[in-house]
Amino acid sequence: MNGYLNESHFLMVEEGFTTRDLLENLLGELCQESDQQAFFVADLGDIFKKHLRFLKALPRVKPYFPVKCNGSEGVIRLLAELGAGFACANKAEISRVQGIGVPAERIFYSSPCKQVAHIRYAATHGVRLMAFDNEVELSKVARSHPRARILLGITADSIPSAHPSMTFGTTLKSCRHLLEMAKEQAVEVVGISFHLGSRGLEPQTFTQAVATAQLVFDVATELGFRMHLLDIGGGFPGTEDTRAPLEEISAVINSALDLYFPEGCGVDVVARPGRYYVTSAFTLAVSITALEEIPMEQPGSDEEECSSRKSLVYHLSDGIYGAFSCLLFDSPCPRPWLHKRPCPEHPWHSSSLRGPPGHGEDRIADGLQLPQLHVGDWLVFGNMGAYSITTSSLLTGCPQPQVTYAMSRMAWKAVQLFQEKPPQTEDDRESLCTPLSCGWEMAETLCVTPVFAPAGII
Ligand SMILES: Cc1ncc(COP(=O)(O)O)c(C=O)c1O
Repeated sequence: MNGYLNESHFLMVEEGFTTRDLLENLLGELCQESDQQAFFVADLGDIFKKHLRFLKALPRVKPYFPVKCNGSEGVIRLLAELGAGFACANKAEISRVQGIGVPAERIFYSSPCKQVAHIRYAATHGVRLMAFDNEVELSKVARSHPRARILLGITADSIPSAHPSMTFGTTLKSCRHLLEMAKEQAVEVVGISFHLGSRGLEPQTFTQAVATAQLVFDVATELGFRMHLLDIGGGFPGTEDTRAPLEEISAVINSALDLYFPEGCGVDVVARPGRYYVTSAFTLAVSITALEEIPMEQPGSDEEECSSRKSLVYHLSDGIYGAFSCLLFDSPCPRPWLHKRPCPEHPWHSSSLRGPPGHGEDRIADGLQLPQLHVGDWLVFGNMGAYSITTSSLLTGCPQPQVTYAMSRMAWKAVQLFQEKPPQTEDDRESLCTPLSCGWEMAETLCVTPVFAPAGII
C-alpha cells in the first residue's frame, strides 16, 4: 500500500451490511440529537469498482480526476492510493492534493485561465503540467513558470457535433499561431488537450476530436516541438441511465486512438473523468427544516377536497450553494427517497424543494408529487457524488455536510490486492473484477424504499 488510505479513513462494513443500514444508523443517531445537518454516506468500494472498469474499458488511458468534481478527503485518498492523477483548477486544489501527499508529477494544473500567483505556486511546488489556450495565458506561463510543460487546449467548437464550449480551447485555425508564439517564448508545448462537455455526447464526437488533435500534433512537430501527451478530457457518464455507457464510448475512443495515435507512437493518453468516478458512490440525506402551504382554491369544491388541493414548499437543510451545487453543473436533480414510509391515507400534493429559507433563487426541484411531509423528516438523494463537495466550499468555512466513508471488507481486500499486483494485462484485469462482482454488497444494495409516485417525480 502507498499509505494514502488506511482503515482509519473509512468504516469497514461486513458482508451483508448495506449502505442503507449505515444511513439508517446515522439517521437514528441524529434523530436522538435532533441534529438537522445534511450528511453524505460514500461507498469507496463503488469508486474502486469504477476505477477497475475504467482501466478495463480504456487500457491506454490514465485517469486524472478533476478535483473540482469532488474534493473530499476519502475520494482523493482512495484515488491517490489507486495511482490516479489529479486535474486541479487552482492553487487551493493543488494544495489539497499535495497536502495528502500526492507528488507533483501526478498533478495536472488543467485550468486554461490561471492567476499569476497560482502559476507561481505551481512552479514553486513542482507542478509542471498545465494547459493554455490563448496568447495572454501563454505569456503568463512563459514569465512565471519557465519549466512548465504545457498542453494546448483545442475547442469543441472546431469539432462538428460537439457542444460549443464557452470556457475552454482555441480553434484549429489559431493553433499554428499559438504554437509559433510558444516557440518564440521558449515554452515547452508537449501535447494537446480537449474536453467535449458533459451532456451525453455522441461517442463519435471523440473520433473527430482525436483526429483534430492529430492534425495539431503534426503542426507542432513541424515547428520542432516534441509532442507526447494527449488529454481527452472528461464527460464520461456517472450513472447507467445515459444514452451511451462507458464501454460504448470507450470502443469509439480506442478505435480513434488506434487510428490516429497507434500504440508505440510515443504518445501517452490521459483523461479527466469526474462524474464517472464519484456520482453513484455518494448518497445525501437532507432534512426538512421549514414548510409553506400554498392553497390552490378551486371554485365550487367542498372543504375536504380543498384541503388536499394545496401545494407545498419544503425548505431543506442544504441547497444549491451547498450539496445541491451539482444542479449548477448540468446535473439533473436526482430522485428523492423518503426515509420514513408515509401514511397511506395521507393525500399527495404538488410540492417544491427549496434550500434554506432566505434565498428565493435556491430552487432544488418543482412539480413533485409527494405525500404530506413534516419538519424533521429526512429525504435521501442517491447519485450525489459529483459537483456537490468542492474544494472551494471546503475552504469557505461554511458548515459542510459531513461525509461518512464506508467500504466492504471484500472491496478493501481487493484494493490491497490491486496494490500488490496492479493488473497489467487483460487477463489480470478480468481476474481482479470477476471475484468481486458478488461481493459488492455496498453498491449493489444501495436502495432505500422509494415511496414517491412513479409518475410526477422529478
Ligand atoms: C475542462 C473540464 N474538464 C473536465 C471536466 C470533468 O467533466 P465530467 O465531470 O463530466 O467528467 C470538466 C467539468 O466541468 C471541465 O470543465
